[in-house]
Amino acid sequence: MGVYEVKSLEQYFKVYKRSVREPRKFWSKIAEDFVWYKKWDKVLEYRLEEAEVKWFVNGKLNITKNCIDRHLAKRGDKTAIIFEPNDPDEEAEHITYNDLYNRVCKMANVLRDQGIRKGDRVCIYLPMIPELAVTVLACARIGAIHSVVFAGFSESALAARIQDCECKMVVTSDGGFRGNKTIDLKGIVDGALETCPSIDKVLVVKRTNADIPMKEGRDEWLAPLYEKASTESIAEVMDAEDPLFILYTSGSTGKPKGMLHTTAGYMIYTAYTFKNVFQYEEKDVYWCTADIGWITGHSYILYGPLANGATTVMFEGVPSYPDFGRFWEVVDKHKVTQFYTAPTAIRALAKESTDWVTKYDLSSLKVLGSVGEPINEEAWHWYNDHVGNKKCPIVDTWWQTETGGLMISPIAYATPTKPTYATLPLPGVQPVLMDEKRNEIEGNQVVGSLCIKFPWPSMARTIWGDHRRYKETYFSAFPGKYFTGDGALRDEVGYYRITGRVDDVVIVSGHNLGTAPIEDAINEHPAVAESAIVGFPHDIKGNALYGFIILKETGETRNRENLTREINQYISEHIGPIAKLDKIQFVSGLPKTRSGKIMRRILRKIASKDTANLGDTSTLLNPEVVEDIIENAV
Ligand code: WT7
Repeated sequence: MGVYEVKSLEQYFKVYKRSVREPRKFWSKIAEDFVWYKKWDKVLEYRLEEAEVKWFVNGKLNITKNCIDRHLAKRGDKTAIIFEPNDPDEEAEHITYNDLYNRVCKMANVLRDQGIRKGDRVCIYLPMIPELAVTVLACARIGAIHSVVFAGFSESALAARIQDCECKMVVTSDGGFRGNKTIDLKGIVDGALETCPSIDKVLVVKRTNADIPMKEGRDEWLAPLYEKASTESIAEVMDAEDPLFILYTSGSTGKPKGMLHTTAGYMIYTAYTFKNVFQYEEKDVYWCTADIGWITGHSYILYGPLANGATTVMFEGVPSYPDFGRFWEVVDKHKVTQFYTAPTAIRALAKESTDWVTKYDLSSLKVLGSVGEPINEEAWHWYNDHVGNKKCPIVDTWWQTETGGLMISPIAYATPTKPTYATLPLPGVQPVLMDEKRNEIEGNQVVGSLCIKFPWPSMARTIWGDHRRYKETYFSAFPGKYFTGDGALRDEVGYYRITGRVDDVVIVSGHNLGTAPIEDAINEHPAVAESAIVGFPHDIKGNALYGFIILKETGETRNRENLTREINQYISEHIGPIAKLDKIQFVSGLPKTRSGKIMRRILRKIASKDTANLGDTSTLLNPEVVEDIIENAV
């Protein structure tokens, strides 16, 4: 992918200008470097007002041909995936491109034998083990749409995701290791499937050797089927716009949104951005610590790196197990050159002694990355000084599940970095800041709502089963533009700094949590009448959740400690432990507008202990509750 490579700031400006002036020419040049069954007739067709976008119209390809097969001649014996297990005493596995080819073909044949066909949805609920990568790629090989659900999600969250896109099959394991815990994934699947009639088959990978029940006629161990399967499997011919995967992200209202990504544009964009932003070179060992259950893992553990024939590390464990040196031990052990993690992990590790870092040789590192939320100045410096030894550029990459790939980010060794700034848009990305009157804000040193005004190849095409919601959520606030939901500022040289969400989504430890589903879960508790959740700043998690809860009369006499525990239990069961509340305040009322909308702005200020300037509360329906809430804030 030599064309449009960026190695200097000067080159960046040149390439960027070209990408904006002639986007079709720009992306088709890049697309030439991939393997196609048939080239496209037209590069781009779009109507953003209608949320309609098509790239590489009528092109035919298979993404696994590009991520695996085409590397075999030159890189067959090169390591594609290094699997680093949770337990440091268990040996790491080096999976070559040849191995990966065999494994993916075998798994593709298993899926086909079990009746999975092009267009069917397969839910993957697995820990970070090689079978996860293999199953994802096997789906892509046969044209099945994968829907990976992060293996930390609860029974009902899993069920909702299976039901929404009517998956035919679940691939899971007998359990998963995470630090010193084991997680009973199969038990969670069994619970979820009680309300999922679309599922015919469950394939179970052995990982923990836990003794688990197998349901006759539905559940099947993967191993015997896999052993028998052939190592050749013809890749399905996919249209450029055929769905590749669905990945759920929480919205500010209602049920999770199944973001649908398609084949060609996603492949080209993740490959191009991976190569440039991280400056990946042939012998490098790249490690992204995310879970494949998130978009970061899809795009920058699997598809982007593999499309470049890279060596990518897959880590099963957590940064604190067996101790706080684990990340650095793994960097040292595998001589990692690019390391990509989240601010929440950095902040957690920065709280511990730097001896955990200095104990290891990190001299292999060339580039550091950050993703998921704004990285604060302190964490940025700790990362830069102690991990990067002041010689590794930090690429602070801003993007979203919906964008499929990195959008605003420095390009390592080309874009001068600036702490807390995602800096400049990548080639092909046209960000704009909008004011409240829906006008584009020109010039620098300005703040506004961040929108993208021109399509890019890896943008999500729709929300599964609900195109109207897709259009309303992303293309209605500023007609003709994609609205990100984030606010941003543009500094004097045009660098962007993302200031955070402007909607009701809170980013906790890098996880995108909609407040509405959490409120729905709490409101199911029999003692709860109403609730409102807001985020507040937290040293390690970035944000934590604060719940304001009104009890029913019958609940008023109950023990508050028990209630707090029960409410968090409800949240754990409905959404997952990640969404638990750090603080709970029982209140007599919630500040509401005259139309009955909860004034979250006021609650956010109270939760952040920033009550000096609450703004105008006189228009509230019930201004008197505000004083009371402030007085009893926790
Ligand atoms: C939201 C998207 C993209 C993979 C991980 C999260 C926030 C993400 C940054 C960054 C400031 C960031 C935004 C965005 N965000 N990266 N570098 N600086 N904010 O994906 O779960 O879809 O969340 O994460 O608020 O909208 P996601």
